[in-house]
Amino acid sequence: MYLNKINEAKTAYTFDDFLLAPNESWVEPKDVNTKSRISTNFKLKIPIVSAAMDTVTENELAIALAQEGGIGIIHRNMTLEDEVNHVKKVKESGDLTIRDVFTTDPESSLETVKDLMSEEAVSGLPVIESGKLIGIISKRDLKPFLNETSNKTVKDLMTCGVVTVPESISPAEALDIAYENKIERLPVVKDDKLVGIITIKDILEQKQYPHSIRDKDGKLLVAAAAGPFDLKRAIALDEAGADIIAIDCAHAHNMNVVNFVSTIKENVDADLIVGNIATVEAAEALIAKDVNGLKVGIGPGSMCTTRIIAGVGVPQITAIGQVADVARDYDVPVIADGGIRYSGDIAKAIAAGADVVMLGNLLAGTYESPGAVTVINGIKYKQYRGMGSMGAMTGGFSGGADRYFQEIKGPMKHSKLVPEGVEGVVHYKGKVSDVIFQLVGGLKASMGYCGAKNIQVMHEQAKFVKITSSGIKESHPHDLLITNESPNYPTLK
Ligand code: XMP
Repeated sequence: MYLNKINEAKTAYTFDDFLLAPNESWVEPKDVNTKSRISTNFKLKIPIVSAAMDTVTENELAIALAQEGGIGIIHRNMTLEDEVNHVKKVKESGDLTIRDVFTTDPESSLETVKDLMSEEAVSGLPVIESGKLIGIISKRDLKPFLNETSNKTVKDLMTCGVVTVPESISPAEALDIAYENKIERLPVVKDDKLVGIITIKDILEQKQYPHSIRDKDGKLLVAAAAGPFDLKRAIALDEAGADIIAIDCAHAHNMNVVNFVSTIKENVDADLIVGNIATVEAAEALIAKDVNGLKVGIGPGSMCTTRIIAGVGVPQITAIGQVADVARDYDVPVIADGGIRYSGDIAKAIAAGADVVMLGNLLAGTYESPGAVTVINGIKYKQYRGMGSMGAMTGGFSGGADRYFQEIKGPMKHSKLVPEGVEGVVHYKGKVSDVIFQLVGGLKASMGYCGAKNIQVMHEQAKFVKITSSGIKESHPHDLLITNESPNYPTLK
């Protein structure tokens, strides 16, 4: 019985066991389409998702990544209120309409208006009477009276018949109206009531990110993590506007987790992606619960020790492939989470069936990731730690601990935890946009070699060649001393 168990064990593979075979191609890398789905209802323009880790994704990185066409998953190692605020900040940053607007009324004195404008550094104020917008007063209107006292009030100087726009206006339409009427700010109204202001400056800024990924109201997409049994958090994140909720757990084939997915699903409108898993059976169990996406990866992460501490895991290419085979039949997207070190690994994950990849290490250490830069021997680093590391499980909101079904209690709480991750540093990498440029550039190059004009063709046509350890050795630079670091082939010093 035991010998059979040993002899019948299947071989499982990971990124370094394969290369993608070059194929006849009519596709130039610059022309490929990298659009993909992260969940049944949400498409991304690039197949990149940031990890829900406390050294990777808070609102700053989620905003930067959504502006590039990917999506960030806000981590949950913080209070519910803080996580909700991070979600709101992403949503507000993508909202063209400024909703907290300073206003005045027709009877206010010019002195009051001048003071308000200079205190709040605004150049114009909507004028409101009985809750309705009746005019606008700007610094220019006040100019002749700047150095004198006057008995005049706002109603004597304001511009009436203001050009307004409805909430449903698109950025391009708003820009046209602003240019036509030679105005810099457009009040947004609903039933004559002021909802907010759109400024030309904000429209032009938004145009800098033509690939940004937005919801139907023009706000950036965002996802957020909740614990497998944390219904309260899932509901709060949903109400705060999270488009996707990631049920974040080290072993989502735990049947209590699987069963609780139904309860969460019944109570939220957001898409639900659930992980992590690595087997056919786990995929089937979760698909039966109607999840909107499956997250794959048991132990491939750069700072994970699950495979060493628990001796459990499935090398990532096999894990992706076997989950994707089931998921494809039910049209459920697959997120390959962990172990991605280079852009070539992204291409291999997609060829193995992933729709998008989740990155921890590659996005940690960016300007937008949480934490400060440390300098060691003249080289810049930022902290990166596993959510199952001692630091993450005992720091923050202990969000790391229940991911691994552990509880923190009693006076000896720290020594009663069994970590499944380590803490360290990664190179400081600069702006997320530069990192994404290299990763997506590498993926596009790969799609060009494979002859795949889009992700679907990559799924169907890309072929693997299995390689040996000599093949890997030959693949990396060899027989030279690297003198200039390449932006897409870092060497950690
Ligand atoms: P990379 O390789 O991108 O992996 O750094 C990120 C993914 O690793 C998972 N993760 C962990 N896995 N122990 C683990 O076994 C941990 O402490 C841990 N923390 C994060 C997670 O799925 C993440 O997206």
